Amino acid sequence: MNVSDSERVATTLSARGYEITPSQTEADIVLINTCSVREKAEQKLYSRVGRIRKATGEKPFVGVMGCVAQLEGETLFDKIEGIDFVLGTRAVGRVADALENVFDGRQRYSDLGERERDYDWNVAEEQRYSPYVAFVPIIEGCNKFCTYCIVPFSRGREVSLSGSEIIRQVNDLRRHGVKEVHLIGQNVNSYRPADDSGLERIPGKTPFSRLLRAVAATGIERIKFNTSFPRDFHEDIVDAMEENENLCNWVHLPVQSGSDRVLKEMKRLHTIDRYKKQIDRIRNSPRGIAITTDIIVGFPGETEEDFQKTIELFEYCGFDMAYIFKYSPRFGTPSYKMKDDVTTLEKQSRFIELEKVQKRLQYESLSRYNGKTVSVLGEKLSARSESDLSGHSTCHRVVNFKGGEEFLGKIANVRIVEAKSNSLYGEVI
Ligand code: 5AD
Ligand code: SF4
Repeated sequence: MNVSDSERVATTLSARGYEITPSQTEADIVLINTCSVREKAEQKLYSRVGRIRKATGEKPFVGVMGCVAQLEGETLFDKIEGIDFVLGTRAVGRVADALENVFDGRQRYSDLGERERDYDWNVAEEQRYSPYVAFVPIIEGCNKFCTYCIVPFSRGREVSLSGSEIIRQVNDLRRHGVKEVHLIGQNVNSYRPADDSGLERIPGKTPFSRLLRAVAATGIERIKFNTSFPRDFHEDIVDAMEENENLCNWVHLPVQSGSDRVLKEMKRLHTIDRYKKQIDRIRNSPRGIAITTDIIVGFPGETEEDFQKTIELFEYCGFDMAYIFKYSPRFGTPSYKMKDDVTTLEKQSRFIELEKVQKRLQYESLSRYNGKTVSVLGEKLSARSESDLSGHSTCHRVVNFKGGEEFLGKIANVRIVEAKSNSLYGEVI
């Protein structure tokens, strides 16, 4: 979501005559987009501002956007020396106004206001991080209030874009050569637009599965979506995937813990039994759908027994990939008031133990691709070798393969010859 926000800010600024430079030392203005989901991410801002100030002789203007900006607001000016303006998560459309104020000599300018009614969600072609893959936000914010999570406070309430706007964007991207769209949101499957526009004649049991069918009908080559929320994961999503080949075979379904007791404390409002049934439905699909997840180790009160349940769940689900996080207390969240009683050492050792299990499961999953043919979008020249290209399969595995620029932006059939620890290697057939 942050990458997508940055793309739109760059689009707005370039339309107003600013030039976007990746070089921090050349820049007259440095905009830092921030994350506050864990403490470590937040601390990065503090060190980054310091480095900018040190590296650049002439003072660039420094602006902070993203979740830290939204949560800290004007207090950031006191906390970090050298910040000129602060722009909240829904104020990014007014970035040019903020700059004008700063140029006019306004000090400590902040805008934490709501999104404009006519906010422009378009991203200019030259500002997209990839010419072939594009993010399309379909829902922003979160209403779930999991007890550990700061996102509902930094991103506000759930607001869904209309089906017609999403479809218009996808059609436009397709016309401009985009091969793969990622429908993004904190919880994409909680998608609930204010009206039915664009989805009028689309069948389906939930607004999200109907949206998936509608986007599939645009004919764009590939559609991926994340993140899905277990409580709202209706099996009609899998039905839609089975009906439409361009709905890619990958589901990211964060479970957060393998223990019902911990899930209750987290207020996730789903159970392991139900989660396993959802996994069974996805796994049993003839589409061969990859499943990935997020997990937190060391939530307040997590016992060794709870943690072992997480390990058991990993063995059961055989996740194709997992993001493992150590619990990080976030000020303002309900769990901040719970005693953070799992020691740092214990969190670390649970992290390592789970990572070891996951690495084995991941390698097993990757090895199953040996000798198989997967469809891969050539996205960029490989960082390791000039004669290789790098891209993703439909099940969102990184695949490197021998080939040159002629495969950029093309979808190739690649036969896998080697499974590495995090990626696959193959040859075009
Ligand atoms: N501590 C650790 N991990 C967290 N996440 C969210 N909040 C926290 C926290 N306070 C993780 C969750 C979420 C992912 C984006 O970040 O696993 O799914
Ligand atoms: Fe955070 Fe829970 Fe919302 Fe995900 S669903 S963004 S973990 S509050």
